[in-house]
Amino acid sequence: MLVDSHAHLDDDRFDKDRQIIINNFEKDGLSYVLHASSDLQSSIRAVNTAQKYDKILASVGYHPHDAKDITTESLIIIKGLAQKEKVVAIGEIGLDYHYDHSPRDIQRHWFREQVRMARELDMPYIVHDRDAHRDVYDIVFGEKYSGTRGIMHCYSGSPELAKEYIKLGFLISLAGPVTFDNAKKAKEVAKEIPLEYLLVETDSPYLTPVPYRGKRNQPAYVKYVAEEIARIKGISFEEVARVTTANFKRLFKLV
Ligand code: NI
Repeated sequence: MLVDSHAHLDDDRFDKDRQIIINNFEKDGLSYVLHASSDLQSSIRAVNTAQKYDKILASVGYHPHDAKDITTESLIIIKGLAQKEKVVAIGEIGLDYHYDHSPRDIQRHWFREQVRMARELDMPYIVHDRDAHRDVYDIVFGEKYSGTRGIMHCYSGSPELAKEYIKLGFLISLAGPVTFDNAKKAKEVAKEIPLEYLLVETDSPYLTPVPYRGKRNQPAYVKYVAEEIARIKGISFEEVARVTTANFKRLFKLV
């Protein structure tokens, strides 16, 4: 059984067949899917969906793209949602200097505030870092606390940087790009980081792995990410599935 540690199940691109996809989780060999959120509305949807289905867990928070829309009031609502049943993390939060949909100083401000919320609630947090390695590092380490932990989602940094985050209790999650021929860094991370610190994810409907690259992604395709890690490490698919699932359960204290 596999875990998809990051999927956007509320995305419009699942409107036509969301129910079918969720019903197939068992058949597709998925034990858990983490429904990530990007703003207040998607956080509400994540909580509702997680409460409805055993295999779905939720994270709540604001994506850096939407940082410009955050208010102190909206974060108070997020904080309330974070304490509901089946909500296991704050996220996805972080910095995105590739698209710059929100001004960078605003992104940094609200990333820091959401990390502080995770600390107050003693919850793990899920980090989105696109072309912002230095500033993400400064905020995560600047705000570190005893018990800091979380997920570096769709990790795109170096193995050396990954090892720094592991020291703070983070797991390194790899997505579809690890299957792309030109994804040298992701393949290096898959090779160098011990399996005990890795997770697999889809970030669906985005980042579709080979052989479905270009089509819509879905949680079942997380197996292609796991297969590629197994190939790179020269171990079995079953071992990747078993250990990454155990990692996920350890992080979120699931039995
Ligand atoms: Ni995402």
